[in-house]
Amino acid sequence: KEKSEKNRGAFILLEGCDRSGKTTQAQLLLQSLKDKGQNVEFARFPERSSEIGKVIDQYLKSTTNEKNLKSMHLLFTANRWELMEDIVKKIKKGTTYVIDRYAYSGIVYSMANGLDKEWCIRMESNLPKPDIVLFLDLSVEDAAKRGEYGKERYEKKAFQQKVRDNYHQLIEDNWKVIDATQTKEEIAKQLLDLSLKTIEESKNKPIQTI
Ligand code: TYD
Repeated sequence: KEKSEKNRGAFILLEGCDRSGKTTQAQLLLQSLKDKGQNVEFARFPERSSEIGKVIDQYLKSTTNEKNLKSMHLLFTANRWELMEDIVKKIKKGTTYVIDRYAYSGIVYSMANGLDKEWCIRMESNLPKPDIVLFLDLSVEDAAKRGEYGKERYEKKAFQQKVRDNYHQLIEDNWKVIDATQTKEEIAKQLLDLSLKTIEESKNKPIQTI
């Protein structure tokens, strides 16, 4: 077992509110890491293509009030479990993963829906823990200046305000708060530097759990 974790890849997570530039930056980071010769792959949550993902996709696109918020939360969590097993296998073999949203999105969005913080955190426990969380932080005012929010369930200003406040309650030692008002290039450089450092530092460490 010990042997398989030598020279493992890193688990690099991007988190942030809607319109924080997260998805653009994830793609830039993936490409820069490849250009540096790193063995790197990308994943995102929710992953809408699986059976569970299809239910999540329908939920996000509908605007009717959802009564079963806890069971919806558990579907998002199940969607992580169904993919993480393979991802962890690859990480152990040396592939680094850049992942767009994860358990922390699960917690902050469900909290914004009124679910209890401790309950939300408990439901994510034992999932593999990212080696670093790159949190792209942007005020809701600045996010709104970037143009219209989309049409999905959570893309509304008041809701996003709660999401941002909730993120700030979760910040831990392995989080880096990135000022998302900087230029695209400045942010990309910071993310690349932090990721390369994390890849070096994680190589011979076991993967932790949440
Ligand atoms: P995503 O597909 O990343 O959309 P976007 O590109 O617009 O950010 O995420 C869809 C929404 O799902 C987003 O508003 C956050 C929310 N979400 C949860 O509510 N729970 C979760 O566990 C995850 C991963 C996302």
